[in-house]
Amino acid sequence: MPGFELTVNGRNVELTASREATLLHVLRNDLGLNGPKYGCGLGQCGACTVWVDGVAARACVIPAHGVAGRAITTLEGLPDVAPGLGTLVSPPPAEGAAAPWSGPAARRARWHPVQQGFEDAQAAQCGYCLNGMVMQAAALLAREPNPSEARIRSELSGNLCRCGTHVEIVAAVQRAAQ
Ligand code: FES
Repeated sequence: MPGFELTVNGRNVELTASREATLLHVLRNDLGLNGPKYGCGLGQCGACTVWVDGVAARACVIPAHGVAGRAITTLEGLPDVAPGLGTLVSPPPAEGAAAPWSGPAARRARWHPVQQGFEDAQAAQCGYCLNGMVMQAAALLAREPNPSEARIRSELSGNLCRCGTHVEIVAAVQRAAQ
């Protein structure tokens, strides 16, 4: 299988994958990054949303080879590479401390403000859509720090929540924007 390189959450990685392999497949199956979810596989639900060079994109329909050399950001890397929204919720763990995503407490310490907004607004039910919601919302707030409610709704219109938690999700993004 042909090889290629990606920059994923700030790290350069060398990979091999078939020409048909999607970015989502490579992230989840080869790199173990399970933030992006497989929902529809058709680019229509938003569960798989990642950033490609800072722009929200549907990883399930992007050929992995097609983004060789580009900077990919997943939910796992969001706190580290999206400081434009504000300071991190808390500093990175000290040298030798537990890995950033090794447990709930460590994870909480590394949350991006949008993730904190979702917790504060209690915006999750089943949680399956949250990766996409958070990545899409964080991309919006990086561009527009104080979007209107209508703008938030428009931006998230392509991210589906089957639980119907949309009111809380909009509130979560508004909290993060404060
Ligand atoms: Fe990619 Fe639905 S899984 S948009």
